[in-house]
Amino acid sequence: MSSRHSHTENAIGHYARLAADFWRGAVNDYVVDAAQVGPGEVMLDIGAGAGPATVPAARRGATVVAVDPSRVMRCALHLRRLWQRHRHRIRIAAGTAERLPLEDHSVDVAVAVNTMHHWTDMDLAARELHRVLRPGGRLVLVDEDFDDPAHVMASRAASHNATYPMIDPDVVAEKLATAGFATHATRPRIAGRPLLQVTGMSTPGRS
Ligand SMILES: C[S@@+](CC[C@H](N)C(=O)[O-])C[C@H]1O[C@@H](n2cnc3c(N)ncnc32)[C@H](O)[C@@H]1O
Repeated sequence: MSSRHSHTENAIGHYARLAADFWRGAVNDYVVDAAQVGPGEVMLDIGAGAGPATVPAARRGATVVAVDPSRVMRCALHLRRLWQRHRHRIRIAAGTAERLPLEDHSVDVAVAVNTMHHWTDMDLAARELHRVLRPGGRLVLVDEDFDDPAHVMASRAASHNATYPMIDPDVVAEKLATAGFATHATRPRIAGRPLLQVTGMSTPGRS
C-alpha cells in the first residue's frame, strides 16, 4: 500500500471516529455512569452537542436539559430527538456554561463532556453551576486530554489544541470550590483516552 493511500485511510478513520463520538461514545457513557444519573432526576448536559450524554441519560429515566450555544448542534439534537422513544424527557435550550437558562436549584446532576476548553469564564461558569444545582447536587465535568501522546487521536488534535488549550482539572476544581462545591480532580483513562476530570457536590450557602 502506498504511504499516500494509508494516509488517506488514516484520515478517513479519524473523521469517522470523530463523527461517531458526536453520536455516542465510551467517554460520554462513562460520564453518565460516573454521575450516577437516576430515574426521575433532572440532569443538565452543558455543551450537549448532538447528545451523546443526553440520550443515554434520558434512556435511564432522567429528564435532561441539553444546553448548547451552537444553533447547528441544537438543530442536530432536535432532529435526533425526533426518533428517541424518551424524547419527552429531553429539553433543548440555547445557553452557555456562563449563562444557564435554568431556575435556581432546579438541577440534580450536571455533566459536561469535551466542552470545558470552550468556556470563556470559568469563575462565572462555576457560580452558574452552583446557582442551578440543588444543595447536594452532583457534577461530573470531563475533557479528553488530546495533549497526552497516549491519546488515540492526540496528533490529529494538535491544531485544535493550539486554539483551545487543554484545561487544568486542579484549577477548575479550585474555582468550583470557591463557588461552593466540594470537589475532586482526577485523570482517569477510559477506552485508551486520558481524561481531565472534575467531580463535585454542591454545598449550601453561597449563591
Ligand atoms: C466538542 S463539542 C462536545 C459536544 C458533546 N458534549 C460531546 O461530547 O460530543 C463542544 C460543545 O461545546 C459547546 N460550547 C462552546 N462554547 C460553550 C460554552 N461557553 N458553554 C457551553 N458549551 C459551549 C459547543 O457548541 C459544542 O457543542
